[in-house]
Amino acid sequence: MKYRAPKGVQDIFPPEVYVWQEVEKKAKEVFSVYGYSEVRTPIIEFTEVFTRSIGEDTDIVEKEMYTFSDRAGRSITLRPEGTASVVRAYVQHHLYNLPSPQKFFYLGPMFRYERPQKGRYRQFHQIGAECFGEDDPRVDAELIEMLKRFLEEVGLSGLNFELNSIGCRKCRPEYRDVLIGFLAERVEHLCNDCIRRYRRNPLRVLDCKLEGCRKTTESAPQIPDYLCTECKEHFGALQQYLQRLNVSYTVNPRMVRGLDYYTRTTFEVTSESLGAQNAVAAGGRYDGLVEEFGGPSTPAIGFAVGMERLTTLLMEQREIQPPGLLGFFATMGEEAEEKAFFLVSELRKKGFWVEMDYRGKSLKSQFRKADRLGSRYVFIIGEDEIQKGVIKYKRMSDGAQGEVPEEEFINFLTSV
Ligand code: HAM
Repeated sequence: MKYRAPKGVQDIFPPEVYVWQEVEKKAKEVFSVYGYSEVRTPIIEFTEVFTRSIGEDTDIVEKEMYTFSDRAGRSITLRPEGTASVVRAYVQHHLYNLPSPQKFFYLGPMFRYERPQKGRYRQFHQIGAECFGEDDPRVDAELIEMLKRFLEEVGLSGLNFELNSIGCRKCRPEYRDVLIGFLAERVEHLCNDCIRRYRRNPLRVLDCKLEGCRKTTESAPQIPDYLCTECKEHFGALQQYLQRLNVSYTVNPRMVRGLDYYTRTTFEVTSESLGAQNAVAAGGRYDGLVEEFGGPSTPAIGFAVGMERLTTLLMEQREIQPPGLLGFFATMGEEAEEKAFFLVSELRKKGFWVEMDYRGKSLKSQFRKADRLGSRYVFIIGEDEIQKGVIKYKRMSDGAQGEVPEEEFINFLTSV
């Protein structure tokens, strides 16, 4: 074959695409009752939007971005995630002048040049939500509850919510120094990436997936022990609210997330059945990012769900229900075929999904096709039916047959 799609991207066909559509519909339904409106930002941004926010020393910025110069020589990047773009748009359009909180959701493709494997793609899709302007722990609790409700309503089970707080500008520097001290004594056991990074961005070392680094950092000092009073209170209150909202979670003091913009609350939703790439959703607070982009100091929090991982889990956990074809018109003779053609058009206008065959095949072969398409009914029109002004039907589930006068046909369809 001449052309293949690039590595790490996917074509999504029926029946999978029905799961995608259902998930997107549910997201819109659930998010809207929490006051989230959709925002659509461009897929390309100036590279700096991502380097400044995600962080120079992260995997994403160091090795995963699709970056190119446009014809005017500007550095452009295909978005590797949604938060930076939404913050850029929030600041650019002065949305901080509107009443707080401002809440947005988005869905669409993201691009990261990662090594493809199950659950990890180069073009993948996220459904994300971002809430600007409130730092109350109830906002964190509400957002996490919304994520839980969404995942439950699409039909997922067996998920773990992992929670952590990684402090703020005030308390993180102290923890950072302690961690650098700890790592400095163990440098020879770290991988090359971590050796390079540990002084500039030591928290990243805790996130390294390599066994050697994991072992070395097993007894590393933990960030929740170094939180300032405000961060400690915030984290404590969040946990109380989550308990009272019946959101079960476990605190994972090692979870630091792979993006630099986070402050305080961070969380991940994992599923054991996903294997190595087990996070189906993740997020956290980023109270300093709006300011970083030139806006006023504005606390914010959000999450993103990985669509591929979510739909994979769903397809493992339940049957896919494709939309059902209501009826297939089997015709005999040219006149009947013409009649069916315009009738099909009329019925579709009224919202009924019906099909017919244009190949003038035998009645038997038309029935076979109806069966293959999973049609609930076959409607038969031949010379006799035209003369009598009726349409014959056969219900495929039990073979029941009958005929309906043409003028009552719509009523009949509505009633079945
Ligand atoms: P993230 O953890 O980089 O966070 O990605 C969120 C989710 O996107 C992951 O948990 C995973 O399900 C999915 N994902 C990430 N990379 C891939 C990939 N290569 N292939 C398939 N799925 C993937 C963020 O992107 C943040 N913007 C989340 C956020 C929003 N934080 C605050 N607001």
